[in-house]
Amino acid sequence: MTPMVAANWKMHKGEAEAVAWADIVSARLPQGIEAVVFPPATALTAVRQTVAGRGLQLGGQNLFYESAGAYTGEISPKMLIAAGCRYVLVGHSERRQIFGESDREVGMRLRAALEAGLTPLFCVGEQIEDYERADYHGAIQRQMGVALKGLEAEQVARIVMAYEPVWAIGTGRSATVVEAERSADIIRQVIRRLYGAGINLPIVYGGSVVQENISGFVTVAHLDGVLIGSASLDAELFCTLMEEVAGAVAP
Ligand code: 13P
Repeated sequence: MTPMVAANWKMHKGEAEAVAWADIVSARLPQGIEAVVFPPATALTAVRQTVAGRGLQLGGQNLFYESAGAYTGEISPKMLIAAGCRYVLVGHSERRQIFGESDREVGMRLRAALEAGLTPLFCVGEQIEDYERADYHGAIQRQMGVALKGLEAEQVARIVMAYEPVWAIGTGRSATVVEAERSADIIRQVIRRLYGAGINLPIVYGGSVVQENISGFVTVAHLDGVLIGSASLDAELFCTLMEEVAGAVAP
């Protein structure tokens, strides 16, 4: 996969700020990467208009698994597509922890995204307690085992995996390249066990990605990109991060 550099804004930026960011970033997209922005739903349309035809891709931060109905506050896969999204985050740890999304629900959202033709970034990762006990496998195996249940190989092959250790999100303490590589291997093992060796999913890393550590994830750890929270909010900084990745993977 072309290395992905993705910006997850979380609950930040109104329309005007979002448009200003999207305009700066669209003008400075380097060759050789897939740049994606996940704005809040209220800014999707404005960002879409700003980035139209300029190469920056759009994603939703969340989606519900029903296509329409009495689900106050929720957004359907079809609505995200209509708003210009190609990608969607599924199972982000903030959704799991703060909003109580269970592994099973994450699986329903994952299936809905795939059935609608969106590319899900399926987020998995261990808690600090697991990490401190050196249990690197348990959470990833459980999250993937439950959420992938019942999905066909053809559907699974369209998923982008995102390894986001919970202890690294917003903490300033990122995983090392060795740790990211180890977890990517665990993710690959689960896929191999469930679907055989024929499926090789792209894996991106998220959790306190900054300019100092970004290129290691794509070069040393051989991952397929990064998912950036805090450091994505400033347009100039995000441009620098995109350039780091593009430079690191350039032939
Ligand atoms: P930070 O980069 O702020 O740690 O957030 C990572 C993240 O949650 C991306 O989805």
